[in-house]
Amino acid sequence: MKIIRSPQSMAAWSERLRREGLTIGFVPTMGALHDGHRALIRAARLQCDALVVSIFVNPTQFGPTEDLAKYPRPIAADRTLCREEGVDVCFEPTADTMYPEGFQTMVTVPEIAQRWEGVARPHHFAGVATVVTKLFGIVRPHLALFGQKDYQQAMAVKRLVTDLNLGVTIDVRPTIREQDGLAMSSRNRYLSPENRQAATILYQALQAGRRAIQAGRRHASMVERIMRQTVEQEPAALIEYFALCDPASLAPLTHITGRVLLLGAIKIGTVRLLDNVVVPASHQVRRAAK
Ligand code: PAF
Repeated sequence: MKIIRSPQSMAAWSERLRREGLTIGFVPTMGALHDGHRALIRAARLQCDALVVSIFVNPTQFGPTEDLAKYPRPIAADRTLCREEGVDVCFEPTADTMYPEGFQTMVTVPEIAQRWEGVARPHHFAGVATVVTKLFGIVRPHLALFGQKDYQQAMAVKRLVTDLNLGVTIDVRPTIREQDGLAMSSRNRYLSPENRQAATILYQALQAGRRAIQAGRRHASMVERIMRQTVEQEPAALIEYFALCDPASLAPLTHITGRVLLLGAIKIGTVRLLDNVVVPASHQVRRAAK
């Protein structure tokens, strides 16, 4: 496995492969890799000739009070996982090479970014959209993979790829969960043992919402209340938001008439946890709202 740090060398490597007619798969990450990343890497490996994983803790997607400085950076373990999974290149740029002096261009996806996570983290999606656009420009992948856990991020990336004609296929893969349902995330490692147990309440709430819809509930506010009430049983958890939305536009729904996305964000101690489930229309009992 090659470790490439300079954007120029990365671009030259990709250019050579493209000239040979090989396909490049790409998994962008901020490191602290876990089994969710492993699943993305494996899925990419199966679909492409060559595979690049980027490890870059992107400063522009962190707010001033967020955890940039203490974001985990276990680079040796990350490289080991990449080697185990047959990654060809680990691209590890520095902030100075990604954002050199004079850098000023930002990519925004305003409609998607204004909602949900965008309210709590107003600059987050511009930072993500900008770094993903830059990474795509450097790595020039044919295919890039993202996890459903960060649903809103995946939708923002899809939008920008379409809007800017970037020519990258985006593959959004299902969330990988711990046995008790907690969605895998690099930030889970911040949870104390007690808070780790409490954290399962988020997935339980989403499951309660899903069951309510499957049982015939059609008023979004009712389903939202059920999810909130579930989390309120856990004293360590603070609700940031629960929402029922259109899976394509992320616009909030008042009535459930088809496929629906249940989104949730809670805080346990200092750790923010996000999760979501999509309830397909085919799983919903066809009967009047209770
Ligand atoms: O999901 C992440 O790890 C990051 O937001 C991403 C897509 C690598 C951009 O920095």
